[in-house]
Amino acid sequence: MVAITGGRALAVAVLLCAMAAPATAAPWPTSNVNATYNGYYPEQSGWDLRSINAFCAPWDASQPLWWRQQFGWAGLCEPWLGTSTSYGYCGTCINVTNRATGKWIVARIVDKCTGGSVELDYETVFSKIDDSDGHGFDKGYLKVDYKFISCYRASRPGGAEPGRM
Ligand SMILES: *[C@@H]1O[C@H](CO)[C@@H](O)[C@H](O)[C@H]1NC(C)=O
Ligand SMILES: *[C@@H]1O[C@H](CO)[C@@H](O)[C@H](O)[C@H]1NC(C)=O
Repeated sequence: MVAITGGRALAVAVLLCAMAAPATAAPWPTSNVNATYNGYYPEQSGWDLRSINAFCAPWDASQPLWWRQQFGWAGLCEPWLGTSTSYGYCGTCINVTNRATGKWIVARIVDKCTGGSVELDYETVFSKIDDSDGHGFDKGYLKVDYKFISCYRASRPGGAEPGRM
């Protein structure tokens, strides 16, 4: 075994810390993936997670209103969300960027979905980053890149501005 000392040990420690830090890079494909849409209509239900039988309702339905309406809603598809131990993704935030236009928006994971990637609430997320001609709506999906980000950081001024380029 090679002894790791001095600066080298520090570098290794920094690397290990970086790896243990909250995941900003998910261990599954998040680049050039299909984001489909769904009609959760959160505004119509008073942002009630139970109204859509959201997968995350048991953990997040009793969050205060400001929390539930802070960002538009999204589903993280199986197998990433849906198992008994994957609920840690509930309530997390993703920054979704439409590859065609560069438009991005921050959304909160409240549900699971099928189809392999993410599903975006049409009104509060998908429509805000759709292609200007509404092409994504017609196709049923957008080609996106997304990443997990800090909800707190995104909530600071300008952090979650819908459709910003
Ligand atoms: C994205 O959707 C298109 C059209 O349905 C499909 O051909 C393609 O395989 C999908 N890509 C992925 C990664 O699921
Ligand atoms: C979201 O991603 C876009 C494109 O990568 C980036 O320009 C923007 O700053 C990100 N927004 C946040 C809140 O992280």
